[in-house]
Amino acid sequence: TYFDQLSRLNVLFITQYQVKELRWVNYFLTDAQTRSEGWKAFDAIQLERQEQAERSVLISCHSKTNEKKFLKYLSIHGDIKNSFFYESYGTYAVVEFANQESIASLHEAVNLPVVSNESVVPFKSRLLSLRSLGAAVVPNSQTGPKCKPQATIPLTELIQRLSKEESIDHQVTSLMKAYQVTEENTRLRFLVCSLLKDIAAAYFPECNVRPFGSSVNGFGKLGCDLDMFLDLDGISGRNVAMPKAGLVLEYQMKRSNSERAVTQSILSVVGECVDRFGPGCVGVQKILNARCPLVRFSHQPSNFQCDLTANNRVAMKTSELLYLYGCLDGRVRGLVFAVRCWARVHSVTSSIPGAWISNFSLTVMVLFYLQRRATPLIPTLDHLRSLAGPADKSVIEGNDCTFVSDLSKIQPQDNTETLEQLLCGFFHFYSTFPFARKSINIRKGKEQTKPEVVPLHIQNPFEVSLNVSKNVNAAQLERFVALCQEGAWQLEQSATLTRGTGHAPSPWGLAALLVPAAGTPGIKGRKKRKREPASERIKSLLESLKNKI
Ligand code: GTP
Ligand code: MG
Repeated sequence: TYFDQLSRLNVLFITQYQVKELRWVNYFLTDAQTRSEGWKAFDAIQLERQEQAERSVLISCHSKTNEKKFLKYLSIHGDIKNSFFYESYGTYAVVEFANQESIASLHEAVNLPVVSNESVVPFKSRLLSLRSLGAAVVPNSQTGPKCKPQATIPLTELIQRLSKEESIDHQVTSLMKAYQVTEENTRLRFLVCSLLKDIAAAYFPECNVRPFGSSVNGFGKLGCDLDMFLDLDGISGRNVAMPKAGLVLEYQMKRSNSERAVTQSILSVVGECVDRFGPGCVGVQKILNARCPLVRFSHQPSNFQCDLTANNRVAMKTSELLYLYGCLDGRVRGLVFAVRCWARVHSVTSSIPGAWISNFSLTVMVLFYLQRRATPLIPTLDHLRSLAGPADKSVIEGNDCTFVSDLSKIQPQDNTETLEQLLCGFFHFYSTFPFARKSINIRKGKEQTKPEVVPLHIQNPFEVSLNVSKNVNAAQLERFVALCQEGAWQLEQSATLTRGTGHAPSPWGLAALLVPAAGTPGIKGRKKRKREPASERIKSLLESLKNKI
């Protein structure tokens, strides 16, 4: 089955172009299969994952829990289809039952916590704790369960790992293996959304909470935030056909003067509910005056930073578009990962919002570059729109968001460049891009005249009058261009360098690009920073690695 295939995780596949070159590339994939048999449409994956999450529970347990006995104890409620453990603030288990009924059976059997000096909010969720009482039902083992990592390896370890690879293409594959969200991490993301849905359902029983952004678009890195969308279309989007004559009943509903005001009040009460009643949800902030109102909080058991939005269907469609582009060819995801990782190391991007380029903008820049190759690697959005069938038609708040959802309808392009060539080309492309005059536009796949005076203009693919990078200031753009020039230079150097061998070869290729500048100051202080030459940085990194070995 699909999930059996996924559980093997190391999926070998071959793109059309690599067939030509008779080169196998081993990519580590979760949902975003490229053109291979296992490919699934975005909506189908979402539905499958959500249904899986509804049959799952999250259990805090002792780090030495005996896994076998633990699972046997739970299986009195029904067959267990899948389970894994991980460490966050303590040890947790995600347990997926084969049938939904098991959840009801479990709810019947779970006890309320016994507290002495405190009181509890009697909200029964699927976040549970396992306790061993007296003569323990679940005796502890010596070693405890094997935990699945939910965070990336440290940068120094990544650089060491990449330095041992034999080509830049292999380095990119290795980077993806180490950094991208895993099968287990994806399951946990959907489970947290499902737990949140149970809270929001207190007000809106027919609601849904769906992940979007990098959790599902194929470009997610372990540890990235969890963007969630409170979907009320099950209630407000579907209206029964109005008869031409005769009697008709309709709901009486509270009215407000704008869609935005409705979204704000819904998020306000749901945010309040998450804050007061949501187990494991801490640091809840309501950011209701943002362009896209949201509730931000930390979900402690999963260690996810969560952004809950509502009425945000365009972002969902954008996630689907990015997912589709990522599936067209393995090199798309590879290049996006490499560029995003490089940008983070050099503080081109940041987890704090500000005047810097966002990961989303950067991804669109990579896509645009791939459309602009002499032989384009991916088609334009207008082309994807022209391939759409009637079922793909989508208009959201007056914006045409239509594009084909079936990968097999898209003709592969003839580009045969290696990831090394593409990465080098990316740095060259943006080293000389006419940012002052031109706007980046993936709909047309061609630069357009800038419609307004801003340092960086990237047209929003669906809300075409908006600029997704309007926050970026001139200094940040200049820095990006300078770093691209340096990146291009560094890659050319590494092509002429003899690669180090042995136990700890010197960083080269992509690894050298990921070596941080010595003493990189934080975002605040970085304006006046003078970069030392790359060779110096590599030398100092080598010293620090030597000390560690
Ligand atoms: P990381 O969280 O940084 O890994 O990437 P991300 O793609 O999830 O970005 P982010 O969390 O900032 O935003 C989540 C999603 O919201 C993106 O994937 C986009 O679909 C959408 N989004 C973010 N910023 C913008 C923007 O400026 N304009 C539009 N239209 N959509 C945006
Ligand atoms: Mg995100």
